[in-house]
Amino acid sequence: MKGIVLAGGSGSRLYPLTNIVCKQLLPVYDKPMISYPMSILMLMNIKDILIISTPEDTPRIESFFGDGRQLGLNLSYKVQEKPNGIAQAFVLGEEFIGDDSVALILGDNIFYLGNQIDVMRKEANELKDGAMIFGYHVVDPQRFGVIEYDKEFNVISIEEKPAVPKSNYAAVGLYFYDNNVVKYAKGLKPSKRGEYEITDLNVEYLKSGKLKAMPLKRGTAWLDAGTPESLLQSSNFIGMVEQRQGLKIACLEEIAYRRKFINKEQMLEIINSIKDGVDYKKYLMRVVEE
Ligand code: G1P
Repeated sequence: MKGIVLAGGSGSRLYPLTNIVCKQLLPVYDKPMISYPMSILMLMNIKDILIISTPEDTPRIESFFGDGRQLGLNLSYKVQEKPNGIAQAFVLGEEFIGDDSVALILGDNIFYLGNQIDVMRKEANELKDGAMIFGYHVVDPQRFGVIEYDKEFNVISIEEKPAVPKSNYAAVGLYFYDNNVVKYAKGLKPSKRGEYEITDLNVEYLKSGKLKAMPLKRGTAWLDAGTPESLLQSSNFIGMVEQRQGLKIACLEEIAYRRKFINKEQMLEIINSIKDGVDYKKYLMRVVEE
């Protein structure tokens, strides 16, 4: 399975912060926002990743991650000229996806999943046919794609930002698709807000009986850091867990090392490139010395 991070949008809800740098490079506690969705793809064992962003921000993101080799990744980049919607990622990514299945994650989605990540990794690696999305219980479902379930947690319907939501389950910004996704994405028409909607794509899979929607468990966290309030909440949440445990969330070097994308020598090379006395360096040292 390959992975796409979509880091698009104008970030208008975070103005004037997004006048300086794009939303996905703003800090969430101790690292840039985009590190969190990147970590989720890495935890799924996905190494081939396409990052899609705006004409202005793609070079900035590229200068941060480079080609990903230092993390044992194979990164490529693509520009989305206009914010035409999430589903356009699969049209832009057609060549990158090739004959593979693909996971898409939104660049402003932050997950804290505990051991449910292990189940998700298995699903990602076994997915050959159909699509899998994830539902998270929220108080304000009308802001999101809304998944309606039956008692066995089969999907009955999925609607984009309905005025009267049929459930409290929001469709989070993480999606697994088989290779048909490119074909379906190419067939979509823009919605009323002028975007190629990910929900319309999911409806196509639902119509063909191939959409599964795993509910994320109680106790997990899903945050989108797209407003000043949710950006602060996200920083507070990550900061609180990291300070209490002394363990980092979404430390990409640590994940690359623990998942054996890189060996000890490569990890030491990263560590040596960071200035002495920096806390992040001390943390990586601890990981290696454990
Ligand atoms: C998008 C999707 C929506 C999904 C949400 C998750 O919303 O359209 O279905 O629930 O991401 O973050 P948007 O960010 O475009 O409002």
